[in-house]
Amino acid sequence: MSSFLPGLDLRERRVAMAVCGGIAAYKAIDVLRILTEAGAEVRVSMTPEAQRFIRPLTFEALSDQPVLSDWLEPGAGGEAHIRLSEWAEILLIVPATANTIAKLALGLADEIVSGTALATRAPLLLAPAMNDVMLVHPRTEEHLTTLRERGACVVAPAVGRLASGKVGAGRLAAPERIVAAAEAVLQGRRRLEGWRVVITAGGTREAIDPVRYLGNFSSGKMGRALAQVAEARGAQVTLITTLPTGLEGLNEIAVGSAQEMLAALEQPAREADAVLMAAAVADYRAAEVAPAKIKRRQERLELGLVPTADLLAGLRLRPGALKVGFAAETEDLIERAREKLRVKRLDLIVANPVGLDGQGLGSDFNAATILDAHRVIAEIPRRSKWEVAQRIWDAVEAARAGSR
Ligand code: CTP
Repeated sequence: MSSFLPGLDLRERRVAMAVCGGIAAYKAIDVLRILTEAGAEVRVSMTPEAQRFIRPLTFEALSDQPVLSDWLEPGAGGEAHIRLSEWAEILLIVPATANTIAKLALGLADEIVSGTALATRAPLLLAPAMNDVMLVHPRTEEHLTTLRERGACVVAPAVGRLASGKVGAGRLAAPERIVAAAEAVLQGRRRLEGWRVVITAGGTREAIDPVRYLGNFSSGKMGRALAQVAEARGAQVTLITTLPTGLEGLNEIAVGSAQEMLAALEQPAREADAVLMAAAVADYRAAEVAPAKIKRRQERLELGLVPTADLLAGLRLRPGALKVGFAAETEDLIERAREKLRVKRLDLIVANPVGLDGQGLGSDFNAATILDAHRVIAEIPRRSKWEVAQRIWDAVEAARAGSR
C-alpha cells in the first residue's frame, strides 16, 4: 500500500514511463517512487534531451531496471521500443513536452519515446509540462485534442511558478495526481470524463462569537478522497469544504457555516451530473452571534440554538443528475439511512457506523453500506478512505448508467 495515496494498489502492473526533455524531468523521479511503492513494475525510457536534464542512472537505481535511452544501441537489434511497447500495460509520458506531444499527434517516431508510443497498443497517459505560452499555442492545443480524441488520458498541468519565473499554467501535475490517473486507466475506470461533480466535505462551523464556533469532529478526509478519485477518473470536480488543503486539479471552495456551504453549492450543483454530500453539516446554529467575545463568568451560560436548513433535502438538480447523501449513525444504521434517503429524495446513500475505533470521523479508514431506494448496492468493509471512495464512485457510475 502506498504511503502517498493510502490504498493505491498497482501490484504486478507493468508500467512504462517515458521521460522527455524539460526541467520537470526531475519530478518524474517522484512519480517513479510512488509507482514502485504502490507495487508496480516500472521500465523507464528517456529521450536524448531528457538525459541532459537527469542521468539515466537515477531512474535505473530507483526502478531496478536498465533505462532505455538509445533505441539504436548495439545488442538490442533496433527492437528495444517494440519489446517495451509489447510489455507495457500503460505508457506514461512524464513530462510530456510540446515537441513530444506534437510528434505523438503526428505519428512521428525518431527516438525511443515516440517510437514506443507509436508501436504500443497500451493506453497512453500524458502529463504535459511546459512554458505557459507554449501550452496555449494553438498547435499544442490541437495536438492535445487529437491525442485525447484518440483515447489518451491527459493529466492537466497545474497553475504555479514556471521555470521562466512567471506564474501560469504549465507546471507538471503533482506526482500523486499522475499516478492516481494511471491507476484509473489501468483499472478501466477513467470513466468520469465529461462529468461535472460537486462534493462537500468537512464539518461546518457555526459562529458563537467572533472567536468561537460550534463544530464537529469531521476531518473532511472522506470528501477529499471522493474528490481525488473523481479527478483521477477524469471528472471536473468542485470541492466545497470547511477544511481546504489546496488540492491540485480541482476547484476548491472554502466555506465555514452551513449557510455559506449552501450559498457555495447553489450554482455548481445546478450544472452538476452528481452531488455527493459528505460534509457533516450542523443541524443547529446559535440563535444570535454575540458581536463581542463572550467573557468568562462564574454562572452558567445558556446558548440558544435554532435549526439550520437541510441543504441536501433542499437541493434541486437537473434531470438525470444524481444526489448522494451520507448517514453517519451510532445506531439503527440501515433503517435510519433508508429514512434519510426517502425524506431527502436521494438516489444513493452511504451509511457508515460511527463511534467505532479506527474508522469513520477523523480516521483514515471507513466502512460503509451503500443503498438505493430498493436495496443494498454494496457493503464495503473497513478500508482506507481512498478505497472506499473508489467503491462509492463505482456505485454512482453504475446508478447513472442504470438511470439513462
Ligand atoms: N445534511 C445537510 N444539511 C443539514 C444536515 C445534513 O445537507 N443541515 C446532509 C449531510 O451532508 C448528509 C445527510 O444530510 O449527507 C445526512 O446527514 P445526517 O447528519 O446524518 O442527518 P440529519 O438529517 O442531520 O439527521 P440526524 O442528525 O438527526 O441524524
